[in-house]
Amino acid sequence: MPQKKATAAKSKEGGRVPTGIREYDALVEGGFKKESVNLIAGGTGTGKTLFAIQFLANGITKYDDPGLYITFEEKREKLNDDLLPFGIELAELEKKGKFFFMEYQPEQVKKLLVEGGGTIESLIIKHKIKRLVIDSISAFALLYQDPLSRKEAALQLFHLIAKWGCTAVLTAQGPNIDVTKAMSAELEFEADSITLMYHLRKDLHRERMIEILKMRGTQHPNRLYRYEITNKGITILSGK
Ligand SMILES: Nc1ncnc2c1ncn2[C@@H]1O[C@H](COP(=O)(O)OP(=O)(O)OP(=O)(O)O)[C@@H](O)[C@H]1O
Ligand SMILES: [Mg+2]
Repeated sequence: MPQKKATAAKSKEGGRVPTGIREYDALVEGGFKKESVNLIAGGTGTGKTLFAIQFLANGITKYDDPGLYITFEEKREKLNDDLLPFGIELAELEKKGKFFFMEYQPEQVKKLLVEGGGTIESLIIKHKIKRLVIDSISAFALLYQDPLSRKEAALQLFHLIAKWGCTAVLTAQGPNIDVTKAMSAELEFEADSITLMYHLRKDLHRERMIEILKMRGTQHPNRLYRYEITNKGITILSGK
């Protein structure tokens, strides 16, 4: 009975927030866990910003979830232009009141933590924001050199995200070989999932590879997958 099947599929998806990157969702039981905090770590140019934006843009266009993009790195106009080849029109999504852009200077990390109870929270409540991106959290590691204050800041951030009730993607930038160096131990431990993106040299060219290092409460593969960036965005390839 097709109708019964559809209901079953829907309930199985319950509690999952699809990224809308089809092949990725298929690897992780349909998407991120609802209200989870997910780290996307990788070297420069691996596609972390693109992944995070696809998560937000798909959220709006496919699942009607308003999204907030907090950045320490991107400029609104430039990001808007860079995404046009992928068919993502941030300005349009902004006009519809579904996409929200907030830009902070790296030294304003502390302000973000303080304002967490203020400006950001009001925006999240007012516009029923369900998806949140922070691009990137590397500013945190730089600003809080001492491990104890870094741990406190990380915990404060995770506490805020939990309070906001959003499903979050945090990007982290690190070396291409050992991307886990991009994160502090606290962030790794606190995060519900970690996805690593690589752009590795192989003879005369580079290959893009993605791996899900952990995702709590989820059966995910323990291997790397090749992926491409085309005008459709990130596409994960099956096979080796
Ligand atoms: N139109 C396009 N078609 C195919 N690939 C593209 C296109 N535009 C950008 N790219 C690829 O995507 C990469 C940029 O992706 P993105 O900005 O998401 O990476 P990032 O991991 O966030 O980088 P950074 O560490 O600099 O923030 C480019 O380096 C390029 O390889
Ligand atoms: Mg980026």
